Amino acid sequence: MRILEVKDYHEMSSIAARIIIEKVQSKPDTKLGLATGGTPIGLYKELIQDYRSNGTSYERVCTFNLDEYVGIDADDSNSYRYFMEENLFAHINVPQSQIHIPDGTAEDLKAECERYDVELSQAEGVDIQILGIGSNGHIGFNEPGTSFYSNTHIVELDETTRKANARFFERLEDVPKQAITMGIASILKAKQILLLVSGINKAEVMKQLLTTDEVDEQLPASALKVHPDVMILADEEALSSYK
Ligand code: F6R
Repeated sequence: MRILEVKDYHEMSSIAARIIIEKVQSKPDTKLGLATGGTPIGLYKELIQDYRSNGTSYERVCTFNLDEYVGIDADDSNSYRYFMEENLFAHINVPQSQIHIPDGTAEDLKAECERYDVELSQAEGVDIQILGIGSNGHIGFNEPGTSFYSNTHIVELDETTRKANARFFERLEDVPKQAITMGIASILKAKQILLLVSGINKAEVMKQLLTTDEVDEQLPASALKVHPDVMILADEEALSSYK
């Protein structure tokens, strides 16, 4: 894992955007693994800005999102599908047919996980996976204790995760209790991984992640230590307990 310390959220977002834009420009059929949450919003804004001013094309790009809440319709403003439309897809020229997000309203959720794994394996690993990290160390919605051999699966969300994500909902009770997520093994199939971390709320988990070489299922992000090409872009606040 390489760590690049940046000043703040803005710098983290611009550097991440530069990496993605250069990738898409040099490989127009790039497969992008995408995340939701607060962390990548600045990155997505920069991609939109670049699309408008420089015309970087996403016509041949395929996208795969990490996760989706169970029981929330794609056109509900709380779904991750909606989040991605609002924050990225509606503003660039990626074709809808090349966007992949698990369907949290599928009648048979297990079959939906299997279907998503087939799509992922047909893609033979995304070129770059964007990740955020939960303050409990989750990546995707792989909560502590998740097997590092896991593929796409249904998860029970931790109370800490539901509370952290309640800011996007009207009430805590509205935050779903389950989600579909790419598993740790699915995430590790990415050729390159970019973990974005910003803010003081992530300082403790970054300290845990960086102060030992240990790989431990209780800290899902520690699985990244076995991947050959991980770059962590973390800002000063996120690294403030580590130093
Ligand atoms: C989102 C995801 C999560 C978030 C993590 C951090 O698709 O898979 O792992 O990256 O919960 O969320 P934020 O960025 O809101 O702090």
